[in-house]
Amino acid sequence: MFDSPAYDAHEKIVDVNDPETGLRAIIAIHSTARGPAAGGSRLWTYTDASAARTDALRLSRGMSYKNAMAELPFGGGKAVIMGPVAPEDRERIFAAFGRAVEALGGQYITAEDVGVSVSDMMIVARETKYVSGLATEGAIGGDPSPFTARGVRIGIEAAVKARLNRDSLDGVRVAVQGLGHVGGYLCQELHERGAKLIVADINPDRVQDMRARFGADIADVREILLTEADVVAPCALGAIITPEVAEHLNTGIVAGAANNQLSIPEAGAVLARRGILYAPDYVINAGGIIAVSAEYNGGVDRAGIDAQIEAIGPRLADIFARAKAEHRLTGDVADALARAKMVRI
Ligand code: NAI
Repeated sequence: MFDSPAYDAHEKIVDVNDPETGLRAIIAIHSTARGPAAGGSRLWTYTDASAARTDALRLSRGMSYKNAMAELPFGGGKAVIMGPVAPEDRERIFAAFGRAVEALGGQYITAEDVGVSVSDMMIVARETKYVSGLATEGAIGGDPSPFTARGVRIGIEAAVKARLNRDSLDGVRVAVQGLGHVGGYLCQELHERGAKLIVADINPDRVQDMRARFGADIADVREILLTEADVVAPCALGAIITPEVAEHLNTGIVAGAANNQLSIPEAGAVLARRGILYAPDYVINAGGIIAVSAEYNGGVDRAGIDAQIEAIGPRLADIFARAKAEHRLTGDVADALARAKMVRI
């Protein structure tokens, strides 16, 4: 572990092996400086255990940055559950995972991530109280996606102001890649503010839905990132902005929900050289963890969550201004600010 390129002074990595249920998982705790390590659980079929470990190391580190930047009382952690999991084993696997989280005594707090649903977390919650993202009728909680989408829309507004000097999204062309939980809500937020949408998803039903509801133009999934638009909003997979893609984009702004959008840091340098403003992903997509944090810790009402999500706008504006004044990459400015906040509070 200590020799892995993805290792970044992580505090603790726990390998979970439960022969009774077949659960194999890795829980990575990057930092507990600000509070318990919070971050979702991902269910994914990896090529091997080393790929799963690399993912856990990288994602947990990302959560430390995201939570610190959003000024939440959390450190960063992440769990990966190694798939595939057969539907009939799902309940037993998630119950065993809940016991593994409980055994950490609150050092790690889990929630949903890719491949994991609210119903899975309800099973986890039978075994541990260190879990968030649960369905709670009428109260704050459950699916974080609408909150994430709202923060992304606010971040896009900040980027449009900084790059295009426009105060509204009216008539701004936004290309949205991925119309799932976040992408769908984001299209609604943008449409309500007069933006023109160009959309793509590998699922044709989702594309047709956006066309019917918001009059969105449709692009080919292979073309959406290269579409001529004011803003490109990646809301599907990570690592989609490679240096080569960055070289060929026809936009002034990249601002979307997907985690780890830049395939390698050099892609950020290409964007900057071409005058394309990049909104660091973990800053703009923090709305969901803000809502999850409020659900878990309590004491924050809807207005409090809204205020914290609104703060994503000025936070990004500050990062954009510093990057411009100091001739630095927006990602580097964000990382330095986040690291400075990774201290005991
Ligand atoms: P989701 O799984 O609901 O949606 C992803 C969508 O992307 C699906 O509709 C899928 O068909 C589509 N897609 C997959 N490959 C594609 C491709 N090559 N081209 C076009 N579309 C493609 O996931 P969700 O929750 O909407 O998350 C989207 C991204 O945002 C992910 O990267 C996730 O890690 C990130 N994120 C999500 C948060 C949340 O609150 N759900 C919070 C922070 C980040």
